[in-house]
Amino acid sequence: MLEDWLAPKAAALEARGLTRRLHARAADDDLIDLAGNDYLGLSTDSRVIAAAAEAIQRWGTGSTASRLVTGTTALHEELESELAAYAGQESALVFSSGYLANLGVVTALGGPGTLLVSDEHIHASLVDACRLSRSRVEVVPHNDLEAVEKVLAERNEPHAVVMTESVFSVLSDKAPLVDLAAVALDNDALLLVDEAHGLGVTGGGHGSVHASGLAGLDHVVVTMTMSKSMASQGGAVLGPRLLRDHLINRARPFIYDTGLNPAACAAALAALRVLQAEPDRPAAVHAAAARLAAACGVPPSSGAVVSVPMPGPRETVRAAELCLDNGVRVGSFRPPSVPDGISRLRLTANAGLSAADLDRACAVIVDAIGQVS
Ligand SMILES: Cc1ncc(COP(=O)(O)O)c(C=O)c1O
Repeated sequence: MLEDWLAPKAAALEARGLTRRLHARAADDDLIDLAGNDYLGLSTDSRVIAAAAEAIQRWGTGSTASRLVTGTTALHEELESELAAYAGQESALVFSSGYLANLGVVTALGGPGTLLVSDEHIHASLVDACRLSRSRVEVVPHNDLEAVEKVLAERNEPHAVVMTESVFSVLSDKAPLVDLAAVALDNDALLLVDEAHGLGVTGGGHGSVHASGLAGLDHVVVTMTMSKSMASQGGAVLGPRLLRDHLINRARPFIYDTGLNPAACAAALAALRVLQAEPDRPAAVHAAAARLAAACGVPPSSGAVVSVPMPGPRETVRAAELCLDNGVRVGSFRPPSVPDGISRLRLTANAGLSAADLDRACAVIVDAIGQVS
C-alpha cells in the first residue's frame, strides 16, 4: 500500500533533483564548518560544555514533565531573566524549541478575531503557526510596508499581528523594523519579530529589535531560538509580562510539551554569559561573513548567513559535494527551503573561524562554484 502511495512521490522529487538525504557527521571530523548555525562558535566551548554537564549531574538528563508540572527548574528561571535583560525586554518564556515558541505565541494570540500579516519570506515555523491559528492570514510581498499598512487598515478584526524576521534565515537580508513598528502602532497591531538569526549577531549581540530602539515597547514581541548563537537548543518568547502570563495559560506548545531539558538551559545560559564577557564575538561573525560574501561576489550579509544563488538544485548539491571533498562543509538549500525558488549555497560565518580557515574555505568554494556553473 505504501509503495503505491509514496514511491511515485519519491520518484517525482528525484526527477527534479530535490530529494533530501541525511548525512551523519563525525564528532572528530576536521572540516571547516560553514553549514551549522553555531554563529558564535560556542557549542564546543569548554565553559558551555561544563555548564551542561554540571546541570545533568544536578538535575538529571530530562526535565521530567511539562513546565507547569515539574519541568521548570531554577535554570529555566535564570535563563528567562538573563535573556530578557540582555534583549531589553520585560520578560521571557522558554519553550523547548524556537519552532514551538513561534507556534505557541501565534496560536495563543490568533483566532477568528485576529488578522495575521505574514511576510512572504517568513520561516516555516511561522507559516505553520498561521495554519494552526484559525486566524485569517494575509501574506504580503517581502518587506513591503505599504502592503502591510493596507491590509491592517482594511481589516475587520479587532486585533492584528504583523510577523517578520529581523534577519531572514536564507537570504540574510533584514526587515525594516522601525517602519514596521510604526505602521503596527498606527494601526493598533502587534509586531512579532523572529530574532533567530539576529540575537547574538546583530546590535552587538543584543539583536536588531534592541538596536532599533524597539526593545521593551508594549506592541513589539520577539521570538528567538537557543539553537544558533546560544549554542544549545530551545526557544523563547520575549516581551511584556502580560503576554508571558497569557502564554503560560494559553500557548498549547508550552502547556502540552515537556519542558526544555536542564542541560540545554544551562548551556544556553553559559553561552549568553560568555557572549556578555566577550562582546567582540558578534563583530568577528560579521567580519567572516563579509569575507565570504566578497569572495563569492554576493552583496554583504546583514547577519551570519551568506547566500550564494546557483544555477539549479543539482549544481547546488554538486558544489556542496565538491566543497566537502576538499574539507569545507557548506549548506545546500533547494526548493521548498528557499523563499524565492532559487537554489543556493548557504554559508554560515562563525566567530571561531581563523583567517587561514577563511582563506582556504573561500578558495574551495569559489573553485567548486566555477566547476559546476
Ligand atoms: C527564523 C527561524 N525561526 C525559528 C527557527 C526554529 O528554531 P528551532 O531550531 O529552535 O526550532 C529557525 C531555525 O531553526 C529559524 O531559522
